[in-house]
Amino acid sequence: MLDGTRNKEIIDRQFNSFTPENIFKPNSLHPEENTFNWPEADQMLDYALSQNKRFHGHTLLWHNQLPLWMENFQGNSAEWEAMLKTHIQTICHHFKGKVKAWDVLNEAFNEDGSLRNSIWKQHIGASYIEKAFVFAHEADPEAILFYNDFNLALNDKKRDAVVSLIRNLKQRNIPIHGIGLQMHISIYYPSNVVIASAMKEFYQLGLKVHLSELDISLNPRGLDIELTDKLLQKQAQKMYSVSLLYQQIPKAYQYGITFWGHSDVHSWIPSFFGREDYPLLFDANYKAKPMYCKFLESL
Ligand code: G3I
Repeated sequence: MLDGTRNKEIIDRQFNSFTPENIFKPNSLHPEENTFNWPEADQMLDYALSQNKRFHGHTLLWHNQLPLWMENFQGNSAEWEAMLKTHIQTICHHFKGKVKAWDVLNEAFNEDGSLRNSIWKQHIGASYIEKAFVFAHEADPEAILFYNDFNLALNDKKRDAVVSLIRNLKQRNIPIHGIGLQMHISIYYPSNVVIASAMKEFYQLGLKVHLSELDISLNPRGLDIELTDKLLQKQAQKMYSVSLLYQQIPKAYQYGITFWGHSDVHSWIPSFFGREDYPLLFDANYKAKPMYCKFLESL
């Protein structure tokens, strides 16, 4: 069947790294306070490792996809901190030695550069960030620890806030090793110049740069579009440029490029935004698109 054999063939043959899109998020891995849900996650991880893929854990902390018990947790700040520690360390211990790297924290900032008022900030204060990285490092000292966010190329205010957080963490030897620059981009923006300067700013802080969650929208404004070869070529060109720019950063700071899915048929974008779009490397019939060919050409 198309959605079985070809799908598996693409995953096995075309990629060397796995990132779970949803099943490593808190609501999935930690659905009740005293219950962790390992089977589906273990199965995916073991399959990836059996195929010699690197496994990237996404994500220990986020303000979305939280279990209800966590959102409704009652306790003082010390109890919240203990809960945070148990959440992070139970998961990191379970996958120790298998999950190569973690998005420890996802999307902690607002677009104006202020810290998002997440449950963690409300109950522990801004120091929850450094605590989260320390807890993860204690549980798995070998794991590469990332902060992951969107619009860090496009939005100066947000980027400045993240840069100053990271500078501060590094000055105090808090274990943070990488930045995930979410690449939910489009054929129109951000410009290549802006993407290159964001990568540079972060590797100059000594962080590995992960171009995470990459997809390239053809229709960011949600218009009625006709899928033309011209649009597909523009998308291919954007992919080519981004990949070349990435390869210009020093090798020691390259962690990799992760696509947010492989076939347009499984992309989160059409259902999430309610619009027609074709953001990934393979079309709905799992046929390689021009974007795939130009990406290969860039490597
Ligand atoms: O699993 C349930 C299923 O049981 C139910 O029948 C169905 C009906 O709505 O929902 C299914 O859950 C959906 C889940 O994806 C799995 O498909 C959720 O509704 C849906 O909200 C969820 O969307 C995910 C989204 O994060 C949640 O905010 C997307 O797949 C996922 O691609 C997206 O990923 C995020 C990154 O983690 C962080 N950066 C942004 C990125 C895009 O939003």
